Amino acid sequence: MLNIPLSDTTFKNIRDYIYEKSGIYISDTKKYLIENRLSRILHEKKMNSFEEYLKTVKFNSNGSELSRLFDAVTTNETYFFREEHQLTTLIDHIIPSVMQGNKNSHKFKVWSAACSTGEEPYTIAMMLMEKRLTTKDFEIKASDISDGVLSSAKKAVYNSYSVRNIPGHYLNKYFDSKGDNFNLSSRVKSSVNFRKINLIDDRGMNSIRGMDVIFCRNVLIYFDNKAKQKVVSNLYDSLIPGGYLIIGSSESLHNVTRAFRPSILNKVIVYQKV
Ligand SMILES: C[S@@+](CC[C@H](N)C(=O)[O-])C[C@H]1O[C@@H](n2cnc3c(N)ncnc32)[C@H](O)[C@@H]1O
Repeated sequence: MLNIPLSDTTFKNIRDYIYEKSGIYISDTKKYLIENRLSRILHEKKMNSFEEYLKTVKFNSNGSELSRLFDAVTTNETYFFREEHQLTTLIDHIIPSVMQGNKNSHKFKVWSAACSTGEEPYTIAMMLMEKRLTTKDFEIKASDISDGVLSSAKKAVYNSYSVRNIPGHYLNKYFDSKGDNFNLSSRVKSSVNFRKINLIDDRGMNSIRGMDVIFCRNVLIYFDNKAKQKVVSNLYDSLIPGGYLIIGSSESLHNVTRAFRPSILNKVIVYQKV
């Protein structure tokens, strides 16, 4: 495969376009990443320049090229039971306290924003089911910007890498192993409602309201401060008063917002809407 040159100017144009559309900030040092990942698309489309490619993305009316661009530049790393202490805090501390205060018995609503291939919302669903809760008690929404990951999430067929942290009894109870694959049971699959939402798009974000808890983990790191502020302010609006935001344990809302009250529950930092 011959290398197609990416000039600094075109790199900046592509980088700015990605930022404008997704909030993802790509620094100068990541030029090689854009060059590598997008070269494959150029070759496939038999295009000779990145300039031509950028034009195609901008003028593609149904958004499929933009979606493909997001797929190429996003990092989708995830796995079941990731940062398990945060999930245990949800199950053992947050849910009992929300349910106790929830005299009108509305369903407990969780949103996995930036869910990638679905391991996060499905882990939450299985943990709730282990507590004998059903979809009569809870509702789980999950979203991502990438069509590619959402389509894998809906299929819910995983490899040994994704399932490596799953406790044995969960694996036996909620998965069917077929060859090298692990197929998630339809009961868990159908308990999560997936949709495409771009975290910096106000319209999509405004469509989600009344959440008790939002997991938005390991995605804020890709945004600059301005984009983080916008996303976090939208997440705030999607929560009920007293609702919780949980971000990745290596992420922070320092210098991003003061609207939430941070506290430590079970050694986990949680952000509560006041
Ligand atoms: C590293 S994964 C995190 C998955 C999961 N939350 C976890 O912690 O394991 C980051 C995800 O964020 C998504 N993403 C990036 N920018 C986004 C945006 N502007 N709106 C929605 N999702 C976005 C990517 O497509 C990717 O699937």
